[in-house]
Amino acid sequence: MLKAEWEKRRALVEEGLVRELRTDEAFDARLAESMEYSLTAGGKRLRPILLMAAADAAGGRGEDYLTSACAVEMIHTYSLVHDDLPAMDDDDYRRGKLTNHKVYGAGLATLAGDALLTMAFELLARQQGVPAETMLRVVREISEAVGANGMVGGQALDLASEGKRIDMDTLRRMHMAKTGALFRASVRSGAILGGADEAQLAALTEYAEAFGLAFQITDDILDVTGDAAAIGKPVGSDERNHKSTYVTLTSLEEAKRLAREAADRAHEALAPLGGKAAFLDELAEYLVTRDR
Ligand code: IPE
Ligand code: IPE
Ligand code: MG
Ligand code: MG
Ligand code: MG
Repeated sequence: MLKAEWEKRRALVEEGLVRELRTDEAFDARLAESMEYSLTAGGKRLRPILLMAAADAAGGRGEDYLTSACAVEMIHTYSLVHDDLPAMDDDDYRRGKLTNHKVYGAGLATLAGDALLTMAFELLARQQGVPAETMLRVVREISEAVGANGMVGGQALDLASEGKRIDMDTLRRMHMAKTGALFRASVRSGAILGGADEAQLAALTEYAEAFGLAFQITDDILDVTGDAAAIGKPVGSDERNHKSTYVTLTSLEEAKRLAREAADRAHEALAPLGGKAAFLDELAEYLVTRDR
């Protein structure tokens, strides 16, 4: 069921992104092209899918929030474009294609990221059928998650710990921020939009935190054991950049065990939600079996 459900939702996101990407009015055609290049390059679309699935699990209709779902994917895509820049991880491939800066140059890639991030908030402001007050809550949720105290802060910590031996607690905090925060905000936003009560929101938050951690641990593992063609990005990037990861700080085996542990926590967190969370449950299992 996972694959069929995933494909169905992924197709929705692909359509939504193309519809929402308003670059026809952009006054720099190459900037528009550069934004579209990264946004339509593929990708698993996990965050928007999670947003919609969390709304479903809370008793709402996830598809109604496709615009908001596309917004989180735009933020994610911007973070990848910047993450790959020469001044950051300096990677040449992403989503199976040359990275944005390899095609358009570092200047335009930086601007394309800026514009995608900004457009995400335009999309949130355009979400239909949701009371303004609820939307404000979502905007706050997402902006807090991706700024200096969330994703960007985590990326800064990631840069600062290159070539250093940080402790496990710092590593965990770094992962929760650079990757976990956007997963958490995606799930919580979906839950809020879907009308979750406090107990459902708490359960889904716990799920999302465990999910984000398991996801980044697996990303660290795949940077060592993955197949570049399957993951669509280079293997060995972390080693080349002297990054602190779950693999370098523990071992491959221990990293796998910790990912499993986090995925189990994600499963357990869903217990209060019952059958409506079946898809989220399958997604948690995917975390530890994924090869891309
Ligand atoms: C990669 O995210 C960056 C991390 C936060 C680890 P994904 O693995 O979700 O990338 P795409 O969207 O599928 O390309
Ligand atoms: C990136 O982490 C996290 C963000 C983009 C916020 P990584 O640097 O490990 O991601 P990949 O491996 O390049 O996708
Ligand atoms: Mg990085
Ligand atoms: Mg990287
Ligand atoms: Mg990585």
